[in-house]
Amino acid sequence: MKREQWGSRTGFILAAVGSAVGLGNIWRFPYMAYENGGGAFFIPYLFAMLTAGIPFMILEFTLGKKYRAGAPTTLRTLNARFEWLGWFQVMIAAIIACYYVVVIAWAISYAYFAFTQAWGADTNAFFFGDFLNLADDSSPSNLGKLQWHLLLPLLLAWSATYFATFRGVKGGIEKVNKILMPLLFMMVLLLIARIVFLPGALNGINWLLEPDFSKIWDLKVWSAAYGQIFFTLSVGFAIMLSYASYLPEKSDINNNAFMTVLMNCGFSMLAGVMIFGALGYMANVQDKALTEVVSSGVGLAFVTLPTAINLLPAPGVMGPLFFFALIFAGVSSHISIAEAVTTGLMDKLGWSRPKTATIFCGLGLVVSLLFITQGGLLLLDLVDYFINNMALLAACLLELVLVGWLCRLQDFREYANRASEFAVGNWWTICIKFVSVAILVVILFNNIMTAFKENYGGYGDHEVLYLGWGMLAVMLVIAIIINLSSKKEARL
Ligand code: PHE
Repeated sequence: MKREQWGSRTGFILAAVGSAVGLGNIWRFPYMAYENGGGAFFIPYLFAMLTAGIPFMILEFTLGKKYRAGAPTTLRTLNARFEWLGWFQVMIAAIIACYYVVVIAWAISYAYFAFTQAWGADTNAFFFGDFLNLADDSSPSNLGKLQWHLLLPLLLAWSATYFATFRGVKGGIEKVNKILMPLLFMMVLLLIARIVFLPGALNGINWLLEPDFSKIWDLKVWSAAYGQIFFTLSVGFAIMLSYASYLPEKSDINNNAFMTVLMNCGFSMLAGVMIFGALGYMANVQDKALTEVVSSGVGLAFVTLPTAINLLPAPGVMGPLFFFALIFAGVSSHISIAEAVTTGLMDKLGWSRPKTATIFCGLGLVVSLLFITQGGLLLLDLVDYFINNMALLAACLLELVLVGWLCRLQDFREYANRASEFAVGNWWTICIKFVSVAILVVILFNNIMTAFKENYGGYGDHEVLYLGWGMLAVMLVIAIIINLSSKKEARL
């Protein structure tokens, strides 16, 4: 059967940008920049973008396009002993898909609340109490009751992904991204256009951009910049590779990778201006210092910003606009995360797309119910920590070692250059083989040491052991079993 293909170059780029631009750009980047030297952070960040982000993106586009398959099959073609890494990456995507969607579900509820600011004045009590129903004894291993009011938004979030992955590359994923991406950029620009004129907003933006050059010499800042780049670009865990496997024969690689990365990082800057503009205004109205109102992650999106929205002029317009932006950014990423799994399964098992999408989204929905319980937020937090700080970085590192050291990297460079509008030189090889590998080793080592020193988030020993390390071990074992069984198959 002929492999599906993207309908247009724009369609492919928008889908790749849709994958890269996600919750991370909105709630992670601004805070990272602020924490790590403000304006001065852009130096390590841009450096990381050039030496790790763009080269890695070119590599994943090349692998996908060349071998026309998802991660497991591609890695198996490169080296039969590495198929397990592909499955490990697919499992990372599958697990992320199950909890990322829950945050989109919260955003859907909040978009609805935003019309009337139903969260009231005490947004903290509302989010953790009324909305999530977190109990005093809730924990990742004591999940409590299912929160039925979250089921409808969860179903809505899954159905967007189901529609796109069921309909396929051109008729689903491309179509959805062609609508969501332009809308997302427009909505954020609109929000910025209103926010910057509010009193105090420029102060907030100044806080974000003011360079603290003393931080440049801090290793932590560099590690944060590289960490953010790997996270934000969705590279190293089967996603971009799957998307690129549907590229037509003649497509460019290098320029597409540059455009995807630049648009993603450009969007992050816009998000930074939007968030810090809003925080600056809020600090001004409440007569507080910015340092007292700034936050990131779940707290920023569902506690701090609702308070800021309460104070905005026309909150019934600005609020929904913000939460719809969050939903659009999230849905387009979630589709790509699910597609990495779908492509991997389809290529391996030969199942049809509708069947694969139905089975994965169905099972995914059931698993994600775990995260809409009373303790769901805590489970999400713990699992996310281990997936992002350990599994994802380890998968990136192994992929780079495999391709950079155990294969002929030169061949991939030639392949990429042949089809592209401009060629990449030696710097690309050096970045893949040495720079990115070295940095990932440092970051990963550091993360592992930190995890051993103290339990993340103060969770219990058995929770960290079983739900954190245990989960990673189970993923690894399953991946290796699949690898071994396909070796047997090959011998028969
Ligand atoms: N890059 C996207 C984001 O920033 C998607 C992503 C999700 C990447 C989870 C890594 C992990 O949200």
